[in-house]
Order: sequence, then C-alpha cells, then structure tokens
Amino acid sequence: MHESIGHGSGSYGKHSGVEATRITVARLGTMAGTMVHQSLSRLVPHGIKRGLRDLVQHYRLRVAVRALLRLPMGVAPPPPLLQVLRRAWDNEGYTATLPYLQEVATRAATAEGPILECGSGVTTIVLGALAGRRGVAVHTLEHDPAWRDRVAELLQRYRIPGVHLHLAPIIDRGAFDWYEVPKGSWPDEFGFVVCDGPPGDTKGGRYGLLPVLGARLRPGSIILLDDATRPGEMAVRRRWRAEREVRERVEHGPDRGYAVLTLGST
Ligand SMILES: C[S@@+](CC[C@H](N)C(=O)[O-])C[C@H]1O[C@@H](n2cnc3c(N)ncnc32)[C@H](O)[C@@H]1O
Repeated sequence: MHESIGHGSGSYGKHSGVEATRITVARLGTMAGTMVHQSLSRLVPHGIKRGLRDLVQHYRLRVAVRALLRLPMGVAPPPPLLQVLRRAWDNEGYTATLPYLQEVATRAATAEGPILECGSGVTTIVLGALAGRRGVAVHTLEHDPAWRDRVAELLQRYRIPGVHLHLAPIIDRGAFDWYEVPKGSWPDEFGFVVCDGPPGDTKGGRYGLLPVLGARLRPGSIILLDDATRPGEMAVRRRWRAEREVRERVEHGPDRGYAVLTLGST
C-alpha cells in the first residue's frame, strides 16, 4: 500500500498521482481509525459497553416517543418515525412489523371507543401516544410479569397516558388457554382489538379472544390479528369464521402477514 503513495499508476489506474495519494491517505486514515476503535473497544469492559448501548437505545427511544407525543391529535405518524421507534425498541423477533405498526397507528389515531390489546410491547406505546392521549382508554393484557414491569416502566418514564396495563396470567379454560380477564373496572365494549398475544405456543393460540370476550365486541369491531398467515393463526381464523360472521382482509408481508377482521353480528 505504501508503494502507491505519490505514484498515480498501478492499482489506481485512472487517478492522477495527487488524487491517488489523497485516496491512499484517506484509506490509511480509515484503517487507523478502525484499528484505534477496535483497540479501545477491547480495553472497555463489557459491562460499560452494554451500559453505553442501553443509554443510546433509551435516548433514541425518548426522541421517537417525544416525536409521537408531539403529533397533532388525530394525525397518524409517518412511516419513517415508526421505523425509528421500532429500531429503538430493539426487540426484534417479538415486535410488530412496520406495516402492522402502521395499521395500528393509523387506527389508534382516530379510534373512538376503548381499545383492547392482547400482548404488550411497542404497540402499547403507540396506542397510548395516539389514543390514550386523546382520552380513549387502552386496556392491555400481558401475561409475563417481568415484561409487564418493563413496559409499565417505559410508559411511566415517557409519560404516556391512558394505558391500563393489566397483568393477566394465561389460564386453562378447558379446550384452550387464554388470559385471565381483569376483575376490576373494565369496559363493556371495545371497538378495536390489537391481537398480538398470547404467544404462539399457547394451547389454542389466540383463539380465546372470541369465546371469552366476543360479547364485548360489537358488530363492526375491528381485530388486527398479527402473524395471520402462520398455520396456528390460520386455524384460529377458521374457527372464528365458523363461530361468528367475520369479514377478512389479509395483508401478506415479506416476513409476516396480518389480517384486518371486521366482526359482524354474534
Ligand atoms: C409478539 S409479543 C407482543 C408484541 C407487541 N405487540 C409489539 O409489537 O411489541 C407477544 C408477547 O411476547 C412476549 N415477549 C415480548 N418480548 C419478548 C422477548 N424479548 N422474549 C420473550 N417474550 C417476549 C410478551 O409477553 C408479549 O406479550
């Protein structure tokens, strides 16, 4: 590499000598920077690196949540903002895809009645920021105590209003398992359900929503079912269709699909 400095031919072909020198010096600078970064990185203990990464993640999340909370009432966030929020949430594999998150956000921005959410996460943040802030109650069922605490802490930290985050263990209901429904105050009706839980390995998967809470879902209610093209969720959709009038629109994404289900009469 040093041999090339000042000689504009050879590996640089079409560049002049001065240009080649500039390019080589720039490359050497980049290499030196990388080596210094790697050496420093080796010197910094793992715990400190992790702490710094967490700080950066919290900073990114705070910026994205503030932008959500500053949107005028009733306005859905632009997709790039949701993408930034997803990345900052940093829970790949368990987080809604961007198209699903957009569908949740667009509906949350104008929803009028109480909202039910099954399974908490970044969608809970979006629902609170866009619906809870307008006085529309969001009731979220979460079965995992540690995950519930994490989401609750973030709702509090970023002052996101209107979310009732219920710890709802998954209980045996005979032919299927599903969340235990909160015993305290609880809306009589929901018009919009974000259905991204319980986890896929639950007996019956997400089926329990209709047998347990169907009476609270009036005709015209919307269920946004995530992962709708997985075999388990396809079976759930079949069972729901057999038990209640349901109109379906399925969005097939590149990774995972989701369905918008409009309920008819019981
Ligand atoms: C698919 S997640 C719900 C995600 C939420 N709708 C979102 O977009 O962030 C369903 C359930 O998975 C669990 N979960 C979330 N993140 C997890 C993780 N990193 N490891 C294990 N379980 C997780 C939580 O109990 C949650 O209720």
